[in-house]
Amino acid sequence: MDNPGQLSIIPPPVRFISGTGKLEGSPVKKNVRYIKDLQGIFKDETARASQSQEEIVYEVEMYMPVKEGTTGSLFFGNTTVFAGKVGDEYYMTRGHFHALPDRTEFYWCIRGEGMLVEMNLKGITWAEEIFPGSLHFIPPRTAHRVVNTGKNKLVLGACWPADAGHNYGDIEKKGFGARVMEINGQPRLIKD
Ligand code: F6R
Ligand code: ZN
Repeated sequence: MDNPGQLSIIPPPVRFISGTGKLEGSPVKKNVRYIKDLQGIFKDETARASQSQEEIVYEVEMYMPVKEGTTGSLFFGNTTVFAGKVGDEYYMTRGHFHALPDRTEFYWCIRGEGMLVEMNLKGITWAEEIFPGSLHFIPPRTAHRVVNTGKNKLVLGACWPADAGHNYGDIEKKGFGARVMEINGQPRLIKD
C-alpha cells in the first residue's frame, strides 16, 4: 500500500452550478423538448403547428445515481423553460402525475418567474407563484407542470424519488382543467 492508513477522498461526480442551475458531469442526462414534441399540449394547436417546430420549449438535466425504480433513493434535476408563447399561452412543461401516485417532489426556483400548476385527483387545480428562491412541495397524487410567465428563462431545481416514474397519459387525456394565459399583458390562471 502506498499510503498506509490513508482513506480515499474523491471528487464528486456532478457539479451543481448555483448561478445558472446547470448540472455538469458525465452521469448527467439531458432531455430537450421542442415545439414539434408538444402536439396537443397547448390550447391553440393551430398556432403550435404553424410556428417554428425546432424551437426549444424546455430542457431537463438529470442526475440519476441509481436504477430508475429503486425504492428509497432519489433523483436530482433541473428544468429550464424558455420564454415564449403558443398563441396566448405561455411555454410550459407537459406535466404529469407520478406513476407511483403517492410519490412527492420538491421544486425550487433558481432564476426567472412563473407558475407551478397543480391538480389533485378530484380535478381541483391551483397554481403557486414561482420566483427566485421559491420552494414548492408537490404533494402525493398531484399532477404538476411549470409555466414560464417571464421574459427570461425559468430555471428550477427538482428532487424526486427514484421510483416515482411519470404518468403522462392522464394529463394527455384530461388536461389540468386550467391554463396560464396572457390576458391584457398579465398572466392569469383560466379554467380550460
Ligand atoms: C420529475 C419532474 C421534473 C419534470 C420536468 C419536465 O418528476 O417533475 O423533473 O420531469 O420538469 O416536465 P415533464 O416531465 O412533465 O415533461
Ligand atoms: Zn414529477
